[in-house]
Parts: sequence; structure tokens; C-alpha cells
Amino acid sequence: MNETTENVLELLKGGDEYLSGEEIGRRLAISRSAVWKHVRELKAAGYGIVSSPKKGYGLRVAANVPLAAEVMPHLKTLTLGRSIDYHGVVDSTNRAVGDLARQGAVEGTVVVADAQTAGRGRMGRHWESPAGENLYFSILLTPNVEPARVPQLALVAAVAVHEGLGECCPEIIAQIKWPNDILVGGRKVAGILCEASLEADRVHRVILGVGINVNGASLPPPLRAIATTLRIAGGREVSRPALLAGVLNRLETRYEGWLRDGSLATLLDYFERHSALNDRPVAVENRSGVVRGTARAITPTGELVIETADGARLRLLAGDVHLLPLGREGGR
Ligand code: BTN
Repeated sequence: MNETTENVLELLKGGDEYLSGEEIGRRLAISRSAVWKHVRELKAAGYGIVSSPKKGYGLRVAANVPLAAEVMPHLKTLTLGRSIDYHGVVDSTNRAVGDLARQGAVEGTVVVADAQTAGRGRMGRHWESPAGENLYFSILLTPNVEPARVPQLALVAAVAVHEGLGECCPEIIAQIKWPNDILVGGRKVAGILCEASLEADRVHRVILGVGINVNGASLPPPLRAIATTLRIAGGREVSRPALLAGVLNRLETRYEGWLRDGSLATLLDYFERHSALNDRPVAVENRSGVVRGTARAITPTGELVIETADGARLRLLAGDVHLLPLGREGGR
């Protein structure tokens, strides 16, 4: 959606019951037929706009679309989300924010899309990204920290997404599955992809990509058993702009705390209280294979501690965790 369309929206929001096409055109220095085209675009994005040949246009229903103009009123941050680039469709918001970063975008820049054609998940997986229902967004961070600390940002983001969900949907009980999946009733409702550009002693940038299943009334069969949506879990439609702003608000606070403390110390307690893994049998898949055991703790540097059947305690820095039925933790 281009800037002029957003300006037409602003005028309709601030106007009386109706605003004439002539008046909108005059204020934005565009023709009446251009006004009509922008109104048509807003309607296609989901805004309820009525038109009357004599009175002009009137906004009746704000759309549940994460446009900058909808997100900003909910935003309490100083840096994160102060620049929001909205796309109706994009291949991947992580790719798009990476391009903006190479062109000099500032820390906190956000790219959000209504749909993605090549949404990226962890471990090279695809992230289903249909239009009109979910949140897909990426945030550019440029932390001045040692590269070894970057994986911790996945946990920082998980806490912020969990907190944002809790604020927007207090009726839903969500859990965090290390390192950064959000589950509701054991099914995934949000995922985070943390991609970094590093040198041996320097972090150029980190891109945090967040996908949240928000308002889908159902999921395609292969996903039904392992994923859910906030609407399925809570039984009501959730505001995408408010949820996006809620996550950014929490992320800014958590990110600043993490930079200040130099560790995960202040958020570990929150993470463990809401963890799906506490003392649960798990299988953790990573590049070196599969480790089975009981999840015991998260360290202040973000590793998952697994106790194996022979009593050894392993610290894992990365991996994909599968929860096992009780009694199945033995063996490797
Ligand atoms: C996971 O596998 O759990 C991580 C999924 C991350 C998906 C989000 S959607 C927005 C951003 N853009 C992408 O291409 N991926 C992330």
C-alpha cells in the first residue's frame, strides 16, 4: 500500500461521517479519480468504506490489517517499529528487511506482510503464509555484542512474543518451547527465525522474523495435528495491528534489558515459568544427531540442559525439540 493510500485513510479516519472526493483530492493534491482508486485499494485491504454520490466517502469499519497507520496508535516504543514497511505480498519479510539493512535502514526497522510466497522457517523449512489472517514480520537489530551471544536473542524474542500474546489474548494459556516456539495446548501458534550477519568479533545485524497464526478458522490437514491459531484457541478474532505493536513493545523492553545485563538473567525466570519443557522427556534434533533425555533447565547463556538416561547432563546450544510421551526419555 503506497503512502498516498495511507494518507487517504488518515483523512477518512479524521473526517466527519463523509468526506467528499473533491475535498480529499484537494488536500492531497490528486484528482478525484485517483481518490477513487485509493479508496478501492483500501476496500480491497478490508476497510469498510461507504460512498454516496452526493456526500463522498465515509469510513465505517477499520480493517484488521497490520498497516503502519493501524499499528502506530498501539506502539509505545522509542526505536522498534518506528519505521514500518507494509507489503500486501512479499516473498519473505526476513529477506526484505535484509535488503533494507544493506541500504542503510536503522535499527528497529520492521517489515510486515499480509502474505508471503516463500516464508522461511527454522532448519530450512517453509512457513505457510496465507493472506488475510496471520502476522508475518521481521525486525532489524544491530546489537553491539559478541557474536557468541546472538543465539540468546532467539530466547529474548520468544519471551517478548509470549508476553505480547498474553497481553492481547489473556484468555489463552501459551507456553514457550525452547529455544523459541510458542505453543498453545501443545500445538505451535508462533515461530521465530533468527538470522544474523556476523564477523569473528562483530555483529553486523540480526533479523528476527516472527510468524504468528492469528485468525485462521482452520489449518490445512498436514498442520492440523501440530499447529493451531489464536482464533481456534480463544474463539474470537484478534487484532493483528494491536498484537504486532504488543510484541514490539515487549521486545524493546526485553532487548534493552538483555543488552544492559549482558545475559539472559532477568528473563530466565519468566522463560522457565512458561516453559513447555520443565522436566519433560524430550528428543532434541540438531546437526550432530538426536539426543534423548529429560529437559532440566535453561542456562543464563541460553543453553538447554538435558539429563540423559545414564545421568549425564548435556548443554545444547541449538536444536529442534520434540516432546516425548512420559517414560520415553531413555537412549540416544
Ligand atoms: C519457525 O520455523 O518456527 C520459524 C518461523 C518464522 C516465520 C517468520 S514469518 C515472518 C518471517 N519471514 C520469514 O520468511 N520467516 C519469518
